Amino acid sequence: MNTLCVLIMAAGKGTRMKSAVPKVLQPVLDSPIIDYVIRNVQSAGVPPENIAVLAGSGGEKVEAHVTDNFPHVKILWQHEQLGTGHAVKSAKDFWKDYDSLVVLNGDLPLMKPDSLRGLITSAGENDCTVITFEAENPGAYGRIIRGKSSVSIVEYKDASPEQREIHEVNAGCYVFRVQSLLQVIDSLTDNNSQHEYYITDALGLMNDAGMSTGALVMPEREMQGVNSQAELSQASRDMRREILTRWMSEGVRIADPETVYIGVGVELSQDVSIMPNVQIWGKSRIGRGSVIGSGSILTNAEIGANVNIAAYAVIENSTLHDNAKAGPFCYIRDNTVLEAGAFAGKFVELKNSHIGEGSKVPHLSYMGDATLGHDVNIGAGSITCNYDGVNKNKTVIGDNCFIGSSTMFVAPAEVGDNATTAAGSVITQRVPENSLGVGRARQKNIEGWSLRNHHHMTTTEGEK
Ligand code: UD1
Ligand code: CA
Repeated sequence: MNTLCVLIMAAGKGTRMKSAVPKVLQPVLDSPIIDYVIRNVQSAGVPPENIAVLAGSGGEKVEAHVTDNFPHVKILWQHEQLGTGHAVKSAKDFWKDYDSLVVLNGDLPLMKPDSLRGLITSAGENDCTVITFEAENPGAYGRIIRGKSSVSIVEYKDASPEQREIHEVNAGCYVFRVQSLLQVIDSLTDNNSQHEYYITDALGLMNDAGMSTGALVMPEREMQGVNSQAELSQASRDMRREILTRWMSEGVRIADPETVYIGVGVELSQDVSIMPNVQIWGKSRIGRGSVIGSGSILTNAEIGANVNIAAYAVIENSTLHDNAKAGPFCYIRDNTVLEAGAFAGKFVELKNSHIGEGSKVPHLSYMGDATLGHDVNIGAGSITCNYDGVNKNKTVIGDNCFIGSSTMFVAPAEVGDNATTAAGSVITQRVPENSLGVGRARQKNIEGWSLRNHHHMTTTEGEK
């Protein structure tokens, strides 16, 4: 069997990004560039054990990220960044026992599995095959020099004026026959304008040694390398457009694609409607027929079917089950769960709370570390006083409770099933089931008080 491994080069400084964050960790939409590259390689069918990421500049951050997110992918080190040729050579111990080696620049977030599969399929046809594209503006890309039956690459900085006119350029993706690469890799030199070891010189050396080289032409839009903040934002724009187009083709309604952002890890269903100015990130999932209102921002939100999210809801790391409703203007976060048909309304914040089936928190409330049973109604302005300055304490409210407006639950607090609290109560003791908890001062009226305090004036201005 023909064995193949993939080396992702990610050790470069990425000087042109002008950032303390390594280039491959810069985000396209909400994911670092390297995530797209690794996912692409995995989607093309390469097992994670056969993939290595070459770390160097800022490598500790790259290593930590890759280890956390792709635990089976190997991390290799290039301690000094002497160029892409030196990079491939530094990783020799990793690739030398395979039949074929794919080398990928780490800055290609837009490349698709089909294109990579194309490269993998051509493994063994030549001693080296390189992916090229016709660049509208070839800029500083390496130029492809085609011979009768061979291909070589000249770097822009070393190219003659005539060579710089060539529009076919090197994308930075290669497949090598390992035995052939082993024969030339030690002959690479840094005799060039940048004094770097270029992997691109391997093709020339192979041609000189009578080996075969070839090129696969791929679409330009997939092969854009990210070298600057401007190219990073362009990559995000292209990725955003592609993700939206894909979801619309799957039956998602997007009223105004110009204003909607959906991350690459999000999953939507048929008949989801997304209103203008919505952002959906992380591992969010949205079920059939749900509506996401304008201005809402969802991150790692698990949304069931026929959920109605009105305008300006912010939902993070939380779950809304079927037929739940939220917003406008609410903040739902930290593992909150709304069971089926539950409702979080206007100016409501829910934190680490469980809202039972059909329960409603309609207006101006904060529920933190609270568990509500089913069919509870929380009156406007009710709040859990869950933090005593040291600890976060729990509030537990049973089924079918009716909580009067502006009830304060001094947690830990507990209300039994079918209980009621009087409006304005400060609840400091357990309210037993079926009872009314009243925790407020009794009203008293002081007769004639206004007359004695000169508050009876018909005019309200200018009097002291
Ligand atoms: C490289 C190619 C160029 C091609 C272009 C496509 C070479 C010599 N040139 O140029 O022909 O058109 O990519 O985008 O290869 N890296 C390391 N270690 C190093 C140097 C680089 O790991 O010592 C990594 C970088 O992190 C990056 C990749 O290699 O992911 C490419 O490096 P970069 O500096 O972007 O190469 P270019 O100059 O763009
Ligand atoms: Ca590059």
